[in-house]
Amino acid sequence: MYNRKPIAENIFHVGVNDRQKSLFENYLPLPKGVAYNSYLIVDEKIALVDTVDISFADVYLTKIEAILGERSIDYLIVNHMEPDHAGSIGLLRQKYPNITIVGNAKTFDMLNGYFHIHTQLHEVKEGDTLSLGKRTLTFYTAPMVHWPEVMVAYEDRDNILFSADAFGTFGTIDGDYSDACINTDCFWDEMRRYYACIVGKYGTPTQSALKKIASLPVKIICSTHGPVWQQEIVKVIDLYDKWSRYEAEEEGVVIAFGSMYGNTQQLTEAVAEGVVAGGIKNVVIHNVSKTDSSFILSDVFRYKGLIIGCPTYMGGVYPLVEKLLSAIECRGIKNRLYTCYGSFTWAGAAVKRLTAFSQTMNWELVGTPVENKQAVTKEKYQSGFELGQEMAKRLKLLHP
Ligand code: FEO
Repeated sequence: MYNRKPIAENIFHVGVNDRQKSLFENYLPLPKGVAYNSYLIVDEKIALVDTVDISFADVYLTKIEAILGERSIDYLIVNHMEPDHAGSIGLLRQKYPNITIVGNAKTFDMLNGYFHIHTQLHEVKEGDTLSLGKRTLTFYTAPMVHWPEVMVAYEDRDNILFSADAFGTFGTIDGDYSDACINTDCFWDEMRRYYACIVGKYGTPTQSALKKIASLPVKIICSTHGPVWQQEIVKVIDLYDKWSRYEAEEEGVVIAFGSMYGNTQQLTEAVAEGVVAGGIKNVVIHNVSKTDSSFILSDVFRYKGLIIGCPTYMGGVYPLVEKLLSAIECRGIKNRLYTCYGSFTWAGAAVKRLTAFSQTMNWELVGTPVENKQAVTKEKYQSGFELGQEMAKRLKLLHP
């Protein structure tokens, strides 16, 4: 009935796919769905690592039962208390009343608050171990990746890292959980978008977590979202290292613009033409009215260059661009090359605010921002083109 192919001897994926939810955390689009992963380790003692969203508890419990039959579970390892993983803890405790819940002090505070569970707990601290028989788990805290209680568990026999949300991605698991058995091309953009939106604010804590696991000979990564990584471990760790240092993946420019009646859009065309004429091939244009800011944010993590344009609106910045600025500022993205442009009808304000954003973010402002009054003139179009060229020239200085 279910895919019971083990990840390693007697270690099973018992997660579920969510193909129904439209918005993760009720605000992030899920065009390719999302998976909630949980893992069952069957040893002399039986341990379950994390649970799944409560909406899928039925399927989840049936999957576990299909493997265990009448046997009970000894330990529930709670690496992360966010409800997409912790949601089924209450039901699990009802079904397996003797289960001992393993977590740290912060986990237990949340466990009590969400589920009023405060008995049969086994508290672990940094570096503590738990023997299951042939296998031993070692726990490492990973605070603020991306909640304070987060920890990871390392299994010593097959070198498996149960990594909570780290190395996770949006997107369902289609047909097989292992990256060795599926085409993973569909995951890289969604992995970056997941990182940018969920973990992106916490670059420094992520770097600390990466340093901790660097000394472990990890051969398999079992995240709470997305594929089980076996073939692509080097790549996923390298990406996490880049993103958490706010280092761009490749040469390129994101142009994010808002436009009510097409004038700022015309300037957008001019700026993009200038960037490409300057020798930059990767130019991604996002209309903030059509593209959810999570996808734009993901591209801001991907590329070094960022150009934002919009009209003045009610004496300030166009609202959807303001939302994007807020999302970028919240993540504290570092070291971008940035410039801006905009338009107005009777009194300009947006370009002033967009220009000040470079100071807010401590980014280098490239060239002179362009501000256009009413219909776009030939001169302003040329200024927009030259602004794009300036950005390209500055980027080329990085990789001559
Ligand atoms: Fe996937 Fe932070 O929960």
